[in-house]
Amino acid sequence: MSFDEIIDRRGTHCVKWDKMEALYGVSPDEGIAMWVADMEFRPPACVQDALQAMLDHGVYGYFGDESAYLAAICWWMENRHGWRVDPAAIFTTHGLVNGTAMCVDAFTAPGDGVVLFTPVYHAFARVIRAAGRDVVQCAMPVVDGQYTLDFDAWDAQMKGHEKMLVLCSPHNPGGRVWTRAELAGVAAFAKRHDLILVSDEIHHDLVMPGQVHTPMALIEGIADRLVMMTAATKTFNIAGAHVGNVIIHDAGLRAKFAGRMAALGLSPNSFGLFMVTAAYSPEGAAWVDRVCAYLAENARIFDEGINAIPGLRSMALQSTYLAWVDFAGTGMGREEFTARVEKGAKIAVNHGPSFGLGGDSYLRFNIAAPRSVITDAVARMQAAFADLQ
Ligand SMILES: Cc1ncc(COP(=O)(O)O)c(C=O)c1O
Repeated sequence: MSFDEIIDRRGTHCVKWDKMEALYGVSPDEGIAMWVADMEFRPPACVQDALQAMLDHGVYGYFGDESAYLAAICWWMENRHGWRVDPAAIFTTHGLVNGTAMCVDAFTAPGDGVVLFTPVYHAFARVIRAAGRDVVQCAMPVVDGQYTLDFDAWDAQMKGHEKMLVLCSPHNPGGRVWTRAELAGVAAFAKRHDLILVSDEIHHDLVMPGQVHTPMALIEGIADRLVMMTAATKTFNIAGAHVGNVIIHDAGLRAKFAGRMAALGLSPNSFGLFMVTAAYSPEGAAWVDRVCAYLAENARIFDEGINAIPGLRSMALQSTYLAWVDFAGTGMGREEFTARVEKGAKIAVNHGPSFGLGGDSYLRFNIAAPRSVITDAVARMQAAFADLQ
């Protein structure tokens, strides 16, 4: 299987291509979908084979005995991330947006503050607000072209009603792989302000060569307030399976979370469980190594082409396939640079303000696509901003 293959997703009920015209006015026939965070690639053969085996058997009844599924998760976390997980600590949610919402529901009350380091993945604020909680935005400064954590400023900002912090690690949209020292700082901040720390690590497998992700669970002294969230869906491009792992080692937090799961009658979908079990395997691991190398070269080509346009700056990615491009240097207003990208280049992207404070001058481009799509996108962008060159 080659990541260079163009797979036509139009007409498959795929949100990225099939909703593009309605939401952006960009026709999928002539435009490029670079918004929703999924990849234009098929998952590894081991995942396809697991699904095929289900189809061949053909009876889709209730699932029982999750032991192989839980063992696969534990194997993955230990082998890929050096983190030993107790299978009894794993909850399967309907993905990690659901996992975040479940944490908000289980560990906070209406009116409580939930802290986000912004700009950050937009769905966090959406589910927090929808649950009647207060989104407390702590804006991250950009230092030497990368997001950093400013605990002194944020200590002064806390009002006392904050009960939870949702961290994105690695960071979407900045692509940061937080260092151990930074993670220890986050843990200390959570303790200082008595916050439950929810660490969303959905992007943990997709790191650039040379980068090492540290699970928050490896940071000392945080286990009694920590909720870890991981998933195979981003890593293996199976987001439609809607399965996520919420992993809680603290018995008290686990009992609270289990109570909410039971009250809502949540149980997982068998398709997702089969796919995840197959993905978290040596064959899956080899595929992830290949996809990371491919994405790194995409990022290099994209950044080189975008940074050659005066006034544009693509943040260097340490992780994720989501390029975060700052247009501030063009001196253009948001409407103008966005129109040039969407109407001029015909590329559908995510808009910076939806990621919260600090996102205004940015657009997010998904570069998990065949190489020829990336070079086409760069050429379109250079043409759309040709007058600046
Ligand atoms: C940080 C983060 N969390 C969660 C999600 C979505 O998770 P799910 O599809 O499991 O709901 C995304 C998708 O882009 C993400 O970037």
